[in-house]
Amino acid sequence: MTKSETFTVPGAVRILYVVGARPNFVKMAPVIAELRRRRPDDHHVLVHTGQHYDPLMSEIFLDELGVPAPDYLLGVGSASHAVQTARTMDRIEPVLQSERPDLVIVPGDVNSTLAVALVAVKLGIALAHLEAGLRSFDRTMPEEINRIVADQFSELLFVHSPEAIDNLCAEGLATERIHFVGNTMIDSLVAMEARFRELHVSRTLGLKAGEYLLVTLHRPALVDGPLLREALHQLNAVSTQLPVVFPVHPRTRARIDDRELSPHVHLIEPAGYLAFLSLQADAAAILTDSGGVQEESTYLGLPCFTLRDNTERPVTVTSGTNTLLGMEPARIADVLPALAHRNGTPPPGPPSAWDGHASERVADVVCGDRDAAVLEAATAGYA
Ligand code: UD1
Ligand code: UDP
Repeated sequence: MTKSETFTVPGAVRILYVVGARPNFVKMAPVIAELRRRRPDDHHVLVHTGQHYDPLMSEIFLDELGVPAPDYLLGVGSASHAVQTARTMDRIEPVLQSERPDLVIVPGDVNSTLAVALVAVKLGIALAHLEAGLRSFDRTMPEEINRIVADQFSELLFVHSPEAIDNLCAEGLATERIHFVGNTMIDSLVAMEARFRELHVSRTLGLKAGEYLLVTLHRPALVDGPLLREALHQLNAVSTQLPVVFPVHPRTRARIDDRELSPHVHLIEPAGYLAFLSLQADAAAILTDSGGVQEESTYLGLPCFTLRDNTERPVTVTSGTNTLLGMEPARIADVLPALAHRNGTPPPGPPSAWDGHASERVADVVCGDRDAAVLEAATAGYA
């Protein structure tokens, strides 16, 4: 076998990429660039569903990551899960019908991912899922439902960690579909590293490298109810010893009363990608509920404290720098003692294949260039 058994690109093809929300741009940008470079004569179509639309949640990422202007803007916007998903399905169907792509590539676990996966499979179009196989085993998370559906219907399942292979096999997905390629989100970070390392964005807030806690919080279970207030109370307390920088997601922004915050808690707009990577790189530590930030901080070797009961990214805990605090804002008080305790401990290296070359391996699979032995070795033992 020299090519993927389940999907092979024959001659010139049409590949359609779908992005919709902030983390999607980061995961997809290097894949688009690599496939365009590898197959310049193919037809490449980019669709932006518009799930995220504020310039700081969307446009700045396309610009900084060098993503070409989308061919289709679906303008879906914000709404309930049902309406947002239905609107995306309604608007992507005619695009898929007129473009008739040979392959649709969807990233991650947002509502756009779910909606496009359902439409593509019903039109009989092959689907590839980037970042397949992640499971929190918590079906109250909307993302968990989105991931399960996208994986079930994907011909190509691109995974970035061994446990994702286990999860897919446990759900009965054929190993031939599973390709361990590594982490394309880390490809974007690696490509930007020289640029963000020299930015030192924290200086614009009067802060020094290594002397602040970077915070992001946006999960509904944390920010849509009373836990957010408790988290802010704890951040006020931490900030007397370690200033806090908190770029605020729009979902969270709507729920914060600035008057309750200490002057050492710096609430700022959602940061652009380069600015946020700079803020991460210079932070003493990170407190987050973001999936992508758990991964980036592991790559950067920075202590990360995650305000969740579980993570679909256990590799960031077992071979990374991530500590799960639980859905317990009171445990934010543990961050300073934990930092004092680990002071001087060298961080572990990044997980296997989080190396800046994942998109090349995605392209190898899509183009059928990859030596089957490499694929089989990657999935061996997981059948
Ligand atoms: C979505 C994803 C989540 C992902 C996150 C990344 C789903 C179910 N959730 O959550 O998995 O981690 O994106 O950031 O797909 N808003 C704006 N401007 C924008 C976008 C959103 O003001 O550009 C506000 C709106 O009030 C909206 C709210 O944020 O109602 C939530 O946006 P939505 O895309 O529905 O969910 P996220 O919380 O962003
Ligand atoms: N990010 C950013 N600015 C911010 C917060 C996050 O550029 O203010 C980037 C971060 O570096 C990562 C991605 O956005 O690449 C993660 O997105 P988010 O946390 O919104 O979603 P999740 O990963 O939880 O789905």
